[in-house]
This record gives sequence, C-alpha cells and structure tokens, in this order.
Amino acid sequence: MTQVIDGKQISQDIKQEVSLGIERRMSAGLRAPGLAVILVGENPASKAYVGSKIKTCAELGIISFSDHLPAEVSEKDLLDRVRFYNQHPEVDGILVQMPLPAHINPQKVIETIDYRKDVDGFHPINAGKLVTGDPCFVPCTPAGILEMLDRSGNRPDGKHAVVIGRSNIVGKPMANLLLQKSKKGNATVTICHTGTKNMGQFTRQADILVVAAGAVNAVTPDMIKPGVVIIDVGMNRIPDPTKASGYRLTGDVDYEGCFPLASAITPVPGGVGPMTIAMLMKNTLASANHEIYS
Ligand code: GUN
Repeated sequence: MTQVIDGKQISQDIKQEVSLGIERRMSAGLRAPGLAVILVGENPASKAYVGSKIKTCAELGIISFSDHLPAEVSEKDLLDRVRFYNQHPEVDGILVQMPLPAHINPQKVIETIDYRKDVDGFHPINAGKLVTGDPCFVPCTPAGILEMLDRSGNRPDGKHAVVIGRSNIVGKPMANLLLQKSKKGNATVTICHTGTKNMGQFTRQADILVVAAGAVNAVTPDMIKPGVVIIDVGMNRIPDPTKASGYRLTGDVDYEGCFPLASAITPVPGGVGPMTIAMLMKNTLASANHEIYS
C-alpha cells in the first residue's frame, strides 16, 4: 500500500503548535508576533499566496502588516519600506513576495532585510549559516518538507536522497538540510538540474526523491525505483474547462504512473503547498521568541 503523505493534516498540526506557542507568549504578558508582508504588482499567483499568508496570520494570532505596492514602485521606495520594517519594534518577520518586477533587483531587496527578521531564510547570512550548520532561518518550503518526512515516519537518516532542482528557494536549501548531520537529515545527497545528462540514472538510485523541477511530468515511472518516497514540490496550472477557475493544479511528477511503485508520495494539491505557510508562521513565532537570534 502506498502511503499518501497528507501535507494538509501535518500543516494543521504545526499551525496548532504555533497557535499554542503564541497563547503561551501572550499569557506571559508578551505581545503577539508580527509579520510584515510586502507584495509588489498584480501577479495573480503572488496575490493568492500573500492572501493565504495574511489569513493564516489572523487565524493563529500573528499581527500582519501588509503593503501592496504598485508594479511601477521604484526600487528605492521598496527598500525604504523594508528598512521601515527592519526598525519596527512590533515586526518580527519581513517577507517580500517573489518574483519582483524586472526593474527591481531581488538580491538587493533580500540583502536589505535584517537577517534577524528574514523569516523566508533568503538572506545570504542565513543561506551561509545553513551550509555551515549554524542556527538560522531556513526557507519555508524545504523546512516543511523535512517536517513532512519526519512526521510521516520517512526519515532520511542513512538514505540516498535525490533532489531535482537547484533554486535558492527550494533545491539548494533542501539538499543542505538533507545533508546536515542532524536528527532530521543525515542523508547521502545527489542534486540533479537542467544540466544533468540522463537524469534517470540518478533518480533510479533515490530512496527519497524531492522534485522541484518546475515542469509537468519531469518524473515518470521509468525514472524511479520501487519503494521510493516521492516529494512533489511542483505547482503547475493546467487548463481545464471543467473547472470553474478554468484550470487545475498538478505537480511535477506523473502521480498516477508513479503511485503504484512508490512507498509514499505527496499529492498536489494538499502535499507540500500547505507546509510552506505553516513553516512561515513557525519561523515568525521563533523570531518573536528570539529562538534563533537573541
Ligand atoms: N515566491 C514563491 N515562494 C516564495 C516564498 O516562499 N517566499 C517569498 N517571499 N516569495 C515566494
């Protein structure tokens, strides 16, 4: 029987833990955690993500400070907003939703965020600390995947984990987390990417396969070993006239084809997606509690 790893349930559990942590803070007389969320422009997917983040803050008792800036905003004005929140005593986390319009340098924006409030874990100081194994904010999607593996009983320790994708948001931090000499890591790690020749020769060796390829059917049944644990990070919109929205969501993995071979698999939707927001809330509470930086 293939185990379907229920990201919705696991994310609910984490949100419940965060909610309890916030109650504990408040009963000790401390203020609610604060998260600043900055959205630039009208990208529909970004608007939907930001909407979910703000809604979840409200559900858990995190105060959100939200800025919706026009697509034409100058880089300077955006950086000034970030600096404002860097100084704001009630803001523990700052998130600038990516992608940004072409005239704004995303790296400059990320580097302007105070790394002690970088709950996305994108600042080079946090990225560097992840590599060296020091306490840091970890990007929410790979941190969520590590939690899913751990809480579903699919521990990476001693396994061969293959990651497809080398983005700064998912692939690279994912590989580093799996590699880490820690309770939730300790895997042997291979990273595949668009420059990899004959990807199947690597993916067929995977005990755990994390797929963040950004393409439909990037993993097909001929590319996997029986018993593999598959984590599908993909989020692709496929036109579907039977849906009111006109599209349906699908991952990067041929789910129906791979399902019978896998020992465990994450669905799309309801897999990795809900974990990202749960981990953002967890990072924001950790920041308020000074659990990472004092
Ligand atoms: N765009 C896609 N994923 C993310 C994320 O986790 N954080 C931010 N800030 N932007 C994103």
